[in-house]
Amino acid sequence: MGRLSRAGLRRAEVPGAFDVGAAAYDTLVGANPGYHDHLRISARRMRIADGGRGLRLLDAGCGTGASTAALLEAAPHAEIVAVDASAGMLEQARAKTWPDSVRFVHSPIEDFSVQAGGAGKFDGILAAYLLRNLADPDAQLRRFAALLRPGATLAVHEYSVADSKYAQAIWTAVCWGIIIPAGLVKTRDSTLYRHLWRSVTSFDGAAAFQRRMAAAGFTGVHSETMPGWQHGIVHTFLGEVR
Ligand SMILES: C[S@@+](CC[C@H](N)C(=O)[O-])C[C@H]1O[C@@H](n2cnc3c(N)ncnc32)[C@H](O)[C@@H]1O
Repeated sequence: MGRLSRAGLRRAEVPGAFDVGAAAYDTLVGANPGYHDHLRISARRMRIADGGRGLRLLDAGCGTGASTAALLEAAPHAEIVAVDASAGMLEQARAKTWPDSVRFVHSPIEDFSVQAGGAGKFDGILAAYLLRNLADPDAQLRRFAALLRPGATLAVHEYSVADSKYAQAIWTAVCWGIIIPAGLVKTRDSTLYRHLWRSVTSFDGAAAFQRRMAAAGFTGVHSETMPGWQHGIVHTFLGEVR
């Protein structure tokens, strides 16, 4: 069992924890009602024009490819670059069947801007369950803004419970009643799942995260939540670059 602070794992340790959990990831999220539907909802909320024809999209923190599949469904004609720092999660993603338009890149997202070749390279970015796991979310939001061409959308799909005592109580009950025990049974190590709980309880409320996005240069920033037990718990944060 790993040692965690009140905010969860040290952020440099997070991709390694996902390596440990990679083989069980799809089974565990598949048991979470709405997980895949909600990723699809966030991808659709990006309002990608013309099925993504002629566009290049980034799936930041793609994991085993669940968010990549959602992006592909919303934009079947786009080129999609999917980036993750965990070799184990990417191995699971690459083992699935993808069209040639989807490419996986093993890299910390913090280093990816340089590899991408500079500013304005993407027509949309989806970052699902990533920002909370980064050491410096503000710096990453600024990098995302730089990677997007003017007018393009960033969608951050993320847990955020700090604005609601009710959401906090449901989140803690679901984590300790279901997610942490199930993760322990499946992987013999509860570190990643206890990190999940703490990283969410210590993360921004929706209003604070919207302010972070605006401060990083995004306009029209707003958020929408999900149906199901995740109502008020999982949100899509949307903003555009000038
Ligand atoms: C909860 S998973 C989400 C995966 C996928 N987006 C989904 O919706 O199922 C978070 C992913 O972020 C990745 N990650 C965490 N920190 C990262 C970093 N600094 N750079 C790139 N990926 C990172 C992890 O390896 C993990 O695969």
